[in-house]
Amino acid sequence: MTIWMPMLDPAMPRYRALADAIRLDIASGRLPAGTRLPPQRRLADALGVTVGTITRGYAEAERRGLVTSRVGSGTYINGLVSAQRVSAEGFGHVFRVGAACGEPPDAGVSWEASLESIDLTMSLPPPHPARQQGMADALVAISQSPAALQHCVDYQNEFGRDNQRQLLANWMGELGVPVVAEELMLTQGGQNGITLALSALMAPGEALVAGALTYPGLISASAERGLKLLRIPLDEEGMDIEALARLCRQQVPRMVYVMAEQNNPGGAQLSHARREALVALARQYDFWILEDGVQYLPPEECGMQLYQLAPERTLYLFSTSKLLAGGLRLGVLRAPVALLPRLGATLRSHSWMVAPLLVETVCTWLTSGNAAPLIAWQMEEVRARQRLAHSVLNEWSLAARPSSFDLWLELPEGQRSQAMVESLAIRGIHVTSAEPFCVGNEPPPQALRLCLSAAASRETLTHALEIVRELLLAPPALRCTTL
Ligand SMILES: Cc1ncc(COP(=O)(O)O)c(C=O)c1O
Repeated sequence: MTIWMPMLDPAMPRYRALADAIRLDIASGRLPAGTRLPPQRRLADALGVTVGTITRGYAEAERRGLVTSRVGSGTYINGLVSAQRVSAEGFGHVFRVGAACGEPPDAGVSWEASLESIDLTMSLPPPHPARQQGMADALVAISQSPAALQHCVDYQNEFGRDNQRQLLANWMGELGVPVVAEELMLTQGGQNGITLALSALMAPGEALVAGALTYPGLISASAERGLKLLRIPLDEEGMDIEALARLCRQQVPRMVYVMAEQNNPGGAQLSHARREALVALARQYDFWILEDGVQYLPPEECGMQLYQLAPERTLYLFSTSKLLAGGLRLGVLRAPVALLPRLGATLRSHSWMVAPLLVETVCTWLTSGNAAPLIAWQMEEVRARQRLAHSVLNEWSLAARPSSFDLWLELPEGQRSQAMVESLAIRGIHVTSAEPFCVGNEPPPQALRLCLSAAASRETLTHALEIVRELLLAPPALRCTTL
């Protein structure tokens, strides 16, 4: 009879590698809930290790809540531990992982009981029960308001209702993004704002400029539109505007995409001098600026927005995704008023309008007064997570704005990001290398992006960071894979 044969990571102590293999095989479905693991002696013989190693590995898996051993009967896989039981203590932010099914290892067990890996690949606002609650309250309020329900069942025009645009303009102003309602149109998130701007203002084959490392959604939208995407080097002051000036002398781009407050990835902020130089170039060569402000930072960490320096040629992207909820898909595009008919026609041809229910949900949430404390909590939380990451990884080269969701970790000499990404994944920690952010085909830097805000809690994040630290101290061996 064949027995379950785990793949053990040779770089780890055997017993921990065994516990990790159990976790990975549960996650992949190879070990469904209720499966009996092989008797210890049989597995030890099959793997060529001592029985003691297997005993320790099973005990480690049990400590993590992956398995339960029953005296005289064997060791069994627990049910998927996936539900996040969230304490309802308002803004106290206590998250615990509870067991959803199967044999619960223990009520209120720590993060270690989770079979879920820790995914730090997505730039998400930190989880908090107030997020779900805010949405629930807004939906209940809508369901009880005949006027709001009427708005939600009706079509509306492509720019949204005037009072909604005014409310969003007021909110953006409070967040340090001063805009006037007449310059705004609603989009289905920041990504849709990008595609609208590219579709409305650029023809296939035209040149679009971005930093050498940029938001992957821009790269894919540009490819889809058949644009020529050109890279400009970045340094700690953001895009190299002198390099852009040299490019303009040879080839004038139609548009320059820039994340002035914090480049995603890496967090570089465009200095004021470069903002002025960029605006001067845009006026000299007559190109559009697409300023992406979706990765929100509070005003004290920001410079003067480009749309304020060059309102006549700058489109500014804003979204509720990083402040309220990504699933809402509500963005705001600020553009010179003269461009709005063109942008509106493009939105109409794509989808007529943003779903009125989404707009109504956001506006009701904002007027409820629940959004401001959530955002204030979030800002504190992301700053605390940055401090935490900087203290755990203080020996390495790190870059981030103080209130950024993400941390950019440059690997020390000789380490490779792909090997790190893979070794971290074996340990259940998922991060991103520089590869997806690369414009053009220059080699990517050996660096990792860690989305600190995506972790379920600071405890979870600490665990993930400790593993990153362990691997930085003892990096995976680089294997020779070709001649
Ligand atoms: C820089 C940047 N722009 C745009 C977006 C897309 O935002 P949305 O989720 O609102 O479509 C993201 C999402 O991560 C982003 O990081």
